[in-house]
Amino acid sequence: MKERLENLRKAAIDQLKEAGSLDRVEEIRINFLGKKNELANLMKEMGKLPSDIRPEMGKVANEVRTEIENFIENKKIEFKEILLNEKLEKESIDVTIPVDVRFVGKMHPITLVISEIEKIFMSMGFSIEEGPEVDTVANNFDRLNAPKYHPSREMSDTFYFTEDLLLRTQTSTVQARTMMRDKPPIRMISPGRCFRYDTPDATHSPMFHQIEGLVVAENITLANLKSTLETFVSMFFGDDIKTKFRPHNFPFTEPSAEVDVTCFKCNGKGCSICKGEGWIEILGAGMVHPNVLENCGIDSKKYTGFAFGMGVERIAMLKYGIEDIRLLYENDSRFLSQF
Ligand code: DAH
Repeated sequence: MKERLENLRKAAIDQLKEAGSLDRVEEIRINFLGKKNELANLMKEMGKLPSDIRPEMGKVANEVRTEIENFIENKKIEFKEILLNEKLEKESIDVTIPVDVRFVGKMHPITLVISEIEKIFMSMGFSIEEGPEVDTVANNFDRLNAPKYHPSREMSDTFYFTEDLLLRTQTSTVQARTMMRDKPPIRMISPGRCFRYDTPDATHSPMFHQIEGLVVAENITLANLKSTLETFVSMFFGDDIKTKFRPHNFPFTEPSAEVDVTCFKCNGKGCSICKGEGWIEILGAGMVHPNVLENCGIDSKKYTGFAFGMGVERIAMLKYGIEDIRLLYENDSRFLSQF
């Protein structure tokens, strides 16, 4: 009996070693271990053995079975690996084959300009604030010291919802909101959409973007305003660009200025971008009017501040040489893919 078991073991293992495919391994398994086959027959005969050798034979039979099973298992794994490798080989992708180039989305020029300006001011320690597009007359005009009968308040310039609610006409609303919420020192910029009752043409759009800036702390002076804006200009437009502060008037700042930069296209000689002037106006700025500080709950005897505001479309158009503001809102991928 023992010998027959050993022969069976040897025969199975020999056949398995020779087996050339998964199917063949399965065939061998059925022949040797299947219900009606060799090992099963031997097991049946086992019952007829004298009881003193039966247990030992049982043990050997089990060993033979486990050994063959393990061998089959390993053989199967081996074949599966071979099959997998063959499959990988056959299906591997040839990365050198030319492919169709798919159109991938890009950042909109407005987004590009805003994020570049945000990066520059963040590097100077400014935080980024957000404010709602629907705001109060108080935040858009009253707290910002706009005269009661200022023309910009007119229905013909501003979209009103009610007497107290409007679509903000400037991001300066966020100055009021930030000062009412935070104590100085304040150092923030705030990009966002603004709305004015304008008929669209090459340079006007009823919806546009601004970036507001505000710094309030003790001992802030015009020198801080100048150095901050000059740093911004050289980081954004280039080191060789000069700035010029022209006196101007805004209700919320005193003194106020408009800031011009030397034309980055012609370097001040005069061209179509600067309309022959050599200078380009890029933003409005000034020292925060004491009335504005007080209107927003800040002690104007203790604190001073400066503010500035710029039009994002204008800067994008200058930077990228875009001639019509309406192109920025048409979502024409032939236009947008240039940036
Ligand atoms: N809000 C002004 C506008 O819409 C821009 C501006 C000018 C903002 C001067 C300021 C500032 O904060 O100081 O034209």
